[in-house]
Amino acid sequence: MANKIDLTQEELQKLGDFMHKATGNKLEVHKLLRFKRKIEEIFLKHHIDTFGNFYHQLRFMKSPELVQDLTNALTVNETYFWREHEQFLTLSKEILPKFVTPNKLEKVRILVAPCSSGEELYSIMLSILDAGNLIEKLNIEIVGIDIDSAMIQKAKTGLYTKRSVEKLPKHLLETYFKQVGSLYQIDKTLIDSARFLQANIFDENLSESLGGEYDIIFSRNMLIYFNAEDKRSCFGVFHKLMEPEGFLFLGHADTNNMDKKLFTPVSYGFHIFKKI
Ligand SMILES: C[S@@+](CC[C@H](N)C(=O)[O-])C[C@H]1O[C@@H](n2cnc3c(N)ncnc32)[C@H](O)[C@@H]1O
Repeated sequence: MANKIDLTQEELQKLGDFMHKATGNKLEVHKLLRFKRKIEEIFLKHHIDTFGNFYHQLRFMKSPELVQDLTNALTVNETYFWREHEQFLTLSKEILPKFVTPNKLEKVRILVAPCSSGEELYSIMLSILDAGNLIEKLNIEIVGIDIDSAMIQKAKTGLYTKRSVEKLPKHLLETYFKQVGSLYQIDKTLIDSARFLQANIFDENLSESLGGEYDIIFSRNMLIYFNAEDKRSCFGVFHKLMEPEGFLFLGHADTNNMDKKLFTPVSYGFHIFKKI
């Protein structure tokens, strides 16, 4: 079996087009060249030695494991705790208190799509815990999805590097993490309170797997990898997944191509929108 696969530009383009259709991520040849090593590893793992065979399996035999391995290899999973943390503070100090009602424990459903390896979802939990008695006044359900199965596994394990946690306020790191060698293990109660699910945002059965609508959706730093058309259809997905008057939190580079008939900016905080 060959241990080095020399993919041509045309073959890389075919892979890029396949992944674009499957995941929405636009992958030009110059980007795919950076992933060549990872693609070679997949060839080896699946005992495939020609591109023709590989592509045939991808397209026609639809090997779910092969498609998942390629997806995991080609997605950009960069994330860290407390990233763009002003939004977490707006959530816990301004938006969630609006859901509180006297004499009733209101349920609030939060979706983090995509959650990558869990840092963003846990940061949301930490900011809620840090906001005093909010956690006793609301019944908060929080769910994270990502198309990358390895990232979902990592999120469920909750073990992070120093680099990943270094932006966290010290008191949160000290209270909710235990140091294990050079790594940081997040408290088990936080892991048990979250639900992580491997899922594609474009999956037509997503709403069913997610069990209905959400009050708040975080979608940060995924739409930047989509083209205008896929971004627009993704905003449509968020709109459908959201309760009336739900809130959408985006990353600073994610907001263009939004349909102004679907969401309107809210007056406080940046890149936070309300469902119309
Ligand atoms: C750069 S990370 C952003 C993670 C986190 N939201 C943050 O801002 O720190 C982008 C994530 O989007 C995920 N992703 C890409 N396409 C997706 C899709 N179609 N459905 C679900 N997740 C997807 C990738 O696997 C990756 O983990």
